[in-house]
Amino acid sequence: MRIIKAKDYQDMSRKAANIISAQVIMKPNCVLGLATGSTPIGTYAQLIDWYNKGDLDFSCVSSVNLDEYRGLDHSNPQSYYYFMHENLFKHVNIRPEATFVPDGTNMDADSACAAHEEIIRKLGGIDLQLLGLGNNGHIGFNEPGQAFEKDTHCVNLTQSTIEANSRFFDSIEDVPTQAYTMGIRSIMHAKKILVVANGEGKADAVANAFFGPVTPQVPGSILQMHPNVTLVADEAALAKVPAWALKQ
Ligand code: GLP
Repeated sequence: MRIIKAKDYQDMSRKAANIISAQVIMKPNCVLGLATGSTPIGTYAQLIDWYNKGDLDFSCVSSVNLDEYRGLDHSNPQSYYYFMHENLFKHVNIRPEATFVPDGTNMDADSACAAHEEIIRKLGGIDLQLLGLGNNGHIGFNEPGQAFEKDTHCVNLTQSTIEANSRFFDSIEDVPTQAYTMGIRSIMHAKKILVVANGEGKADAVANAFFGPVTPQVPGSILQMHPNVTLVADEAALAKVPAWALKQ
């Protein structure tokens, strides 16, 4: 695992965007695995900026998203479909038909999840997967549990995730209680993984995921087993990481 220390959120966003840019430049027809949440918004903004300056071309890129709430319409501002369009897709020249977010409007969970897996398979797998970290160490919506869930599946969100994500909704009752998410196997099959984290609220999640035991209780801890993981985090998020790990 590589740890890249950033000064602050803006620096983290710029460094993460640099890594994604390198991927797109090195392989213009790459498959990007994308994430939502507040953490990657600055990364997307930086990519948009470089696209506007003519430094990036997304015309051959495909993307698959990690997760989506079950039962939210595409026009719902809290859906991850809407988020991706607002924060990235509509600002760059990625082809709309080459962007894939799990279909939260399909209430048939088995068919929605199988379709997402099939899309990833047909695209030939993910070249670079961007990940945020939940406060409880979740990745995508893989919540702490008894076992590492495998492929894209439907999850019941934990109370802590519902509370954390309620800041985006009018009230906590509006937060969906279920979501479709790529599973641990889908994520671990990505060739490269880029994790972004900022703020002191993520310090425990970062320390537990990258320096604690590998356990389904901390879903992000499985990333320790992946051969190509880069963590870009600001100083606050790295506050509980052992000092030796930051020396390289
Ligand atoms: C949600 C998403 C995750 C994301 C997490 C952290 O639960 N499903 O993919 O990593 O939130 O979000 P934030 O970046 O807002 O802290």
